[in-house]
Amino acid sequence: MSEAIVRLTNVTTTYEGAAHPVIHDINLAVNPGEFVIVGGPNGAGKTTLLETIAGLLPVVNGSVEICGEDILKKKNKLRKKLGYVIQNFDFDAYTPFTVEEVLIMARFGLLGLFKRPGEEDHAAVDTALSTLGIADLRKSHIGKLSGGQQQKVLIAHNLAKKPEILLLDEPFSNLDLATREHVCDVLCRIADLGVTIIIVSHAFDALPKRDVRVVVMKSGEIVLNKITPPECVQQIVRLTSES
Ligand SMILES: Nc1ncnc2c1ncn2[C@@H]1O[C@H](COP(=O)(O)OP(=O)(O)OP(=O)(O)O)[C@@H](O)[C@H]1O
Ligand SMILES: [Mg+2]
Repeated sequence: MSEAIVRLTNVTTTYEGAAHPVIHDINLAVNPGEFVIVGGPNGAGKTTLLETIAGLLPVVNGSVEICGEDILKKKNKLRKKLGYVIQNFDFDAYTPFTVEEVLIMARFGLLGLFKRPGEEDHAAVDTALSTLGIADLRKSHIGKLSGGQQQKVLIAHNLAKKPEILLLDEPFSNLDLATREHVCDVLCRIADLGVTIIIVSHAFDALPKRDVRVVVMKSGEIVLNKITPPECVQQIVRLTSES
């Protein structure tokens, strides 16, 4: 068995000021290149799980390791390996950046201090723009775009970072059917290239043509963690979420 790229051991996390921990005693190991679907009802703790993996929440108990290192101890180093498409993000209408600038920002974290983006960085931006089919929006102001267009920019921003692990929280929520299918295909291709994908989603129409790991959460706990053929994912998430 290969070394897990994401490993949560007995993890309990909470939000600042919250009366109780939100996720409890979570154990999860994800191998490099796995495609993980996280399901479960509203309020189950799915977003909290992704925030925990991304090192955004204090860990009350247990440990969160990315590539074998503690995310909270090696934040700067490990966050370079992570892309995170957050749930329901929208840019203020007056955000003074173009789409191109939003994507190039994804590269700044990978550059050293005071280094300017070079050829490789601009190439990564171009590839991400064309992968999402938004090259024509390159000079548009991000705040003036529709919700679905902004969502595509956010996904492209994370692809431009070329992460080893891509976390996506309901990335299809603003997208029309054709775009959803297109983004699903993009994610499958990325997964086939070896990127580890952890996605919170209720859209199971396009999955990689290989087994995926299904994780179902309820009341802050993982109630199912099972390697599943793609054709069974929808049914197994429904059954576990409802029971
Ligand atoms: N910033 C916060 N401070 C305190 N509690 C929070 C905060 N954000 C979420 N919670 C609580 O944590 C629990 C889990 O929330 P979370 O957002 O992880 O659920 P979810 O499974 O992603 O739900 P949804 O499907 O609605 O997105 C909920 O009970 C919620 O009220
Ligand atoms: Mg959520």
